[in-house]
Amino acid sequence: MIAAIALVALLGWLTFRTIRHFFFQLPPGPTGLPIVGYLPFLSSQPYVQFSEMVDKYGDIMSLRVGSFRVIVVSSLDLIREMFKESVFSGRTDMHIAASRQHAKLGLLLSDGRRWQDLRRFSLRNLRDLGFGKWSQENLIINEIDQLAKTILNELGRPTTLTDRLNIYVVNTLWSILTGETIDTEDSECQQLIYNMNRLIAGASATDPIFLLPMLNHFGKYKKKSKDFAANARNVMSLAKRLVRQHNENRNSDRSDFMHIFMDEVQKNEDDPESTFNQKGAEDTLAMILVDLFIAGNETTSTALLWFFLLMAAHPQIQRRVQQEIDSVVDGSGPLLEHRRRLPYTEAVLMETLRFGSVLPMTLRHRVTEDTYFRGYLFPEGSILFGNLYKVMRDPQHWAKPHQFYPDHFLNSDGTVKQADAAIPFGSGKRICLGESLARLEFFLFAARLIHQFNFEIPDGQTVDLAGNNGAIRGPKPYRVIITQRIQ
Ligand code: HEM
Repeated sequence: MIAAIALVALLGWLTFRTIRHFFFQLPPGPTGLPIVGYLPFLSSQPYVQFSEMVDKYGDIMSLRVGSFRVIVVSSLDLIREMFKESVFSGRTDMHIAASRQHAKLGLLLSDGRRWQDLRRFSLRNLRDLGFGKWSQENLIINEIDQLAKTILNELGRPTTLTDRLNIYVVNTLWSILTGETIDTEDSECQQLIYNMNRLIAGASATDPIFLLPMLNHFGKYKKKSKDFAANARNVMSLAKRLVRQHNENRNSDRSDFMHIFMDEVQKNEDDPESTFNQKGAEDTLAMILVDLFIAGNETTSTALLWFFLLMAAHPQIQRRVQQEIDSVVDGSGPLLEHRRRLPYTEAVLMETLRFGSVLPMTLRHRVTEDTYFRGYLFPEGSILFGNLYKVMRDPQHWAKPHQFYPDHFLNSDGTVKQADAAIPFGSGKRICLGESLARLEFFLFAARLIHQFNFEIPDGQTVDLAGNNGAIRGPKPYRVIITQRIQ
């Protein structure tokens, strides 16, 4: 009898799974070709393409891309509502076999209990170490001063800032995580940074090598996926070596993230269930470091690249920022204590993050089980993207969505306006873990350098604010002429 009931239940469930599309349909979206789906039609700026499709398919759109069901969510309300749910907060790896083994160990691509434990641990300890707090101010200012020195050698002639900012941004992260400053002459560290940047550059979430894994056995895709995997392995083995060196030279007086992590590993060595169990602990720590560098370096540097270009392209806004800073600080540059008295500068920085949309879409989320939401089926395993770019260019929320317009963030009395639809760091459970540090670094680098220097577009150069096609959306390569205004 029990067996018969179980059989009927099983058959009923299987039937429901098969015909569920009649009850709950997938969100609407374009149809593609057999096998490859919509992949051949994806543009180099898919977030723009997806934004344009909203008129036709609505704010929840679904399409098959390569081997995956991809669902794109494009409104503020939906992103807010969905991304606070665990079922929409899984992650998927990049589907390149050789890089898989480690990727799931860290913060960016893990999910479930492991991710919860690591995220909670990292947030708590990074906060205690001053991540995004004033205690990091001197350290960051020291890096900005070093950067300013290199700029002094380039005054008065067209110069590029690309590749120049990274090392100083990464240095601040490095000190917090390892308790040491990077020796810029140290070729191992240089190599790590170089490889990480290559890894990011090659990791566009909509690249065919990540969406149709079978391609990776053929032609140019084979080479590309091999390069990606080799690069990921290089980065990981360098990071592991650094973890090992750090552990060998462990100094009990010092307190840095790596140190605290290894203490946690020791505390949990008898608990086989613990995420911090001894087995594989060095690999986990190495992967967390790589993830933090990958997530924190290029994003912040790219936001700064946008800022200097936008200032050069809008000389009146640049002057107004400089005048505001001059009126608040004395001879030396702006500090965090001045921030509250610099509302216009703050609005310009917030507008830069909106307009630049450094991460135009969230990272890939994974639907962790079949879910019915707003009458649609979200099948388990689907890749879910929040289209942050669309929200930050939505005329419903912004007076001049496609213009750089700092007034978006100003009240009529000149105070800073918090705009709900400004979500450059995402929303919900997977919201950027480094937001506070990113905002703090962005303010100090931008405000101190714009106080010290003027940025101009060279004669005859046109300004292109369309954004590049990279995984991280930066401005197209540009040159500026920098002159000194404060000694
Ligand atoms: C302007 C700079 C930055 C921007 C615009 C930015 C933006 C974002 C966005 C949009 C996400 C994805 C959210 C999602 O998938 O739903 C993210 C994730 C993340 N960011 Fe940032 N970020 C920045 C800087 C940083 C910094 C400085 C760090 C740390 C050093 C950092 C660490 C992370 C981590 C670890 C994640 C993954 C969180 C998780 O999966 O739980 N980010 N960031």
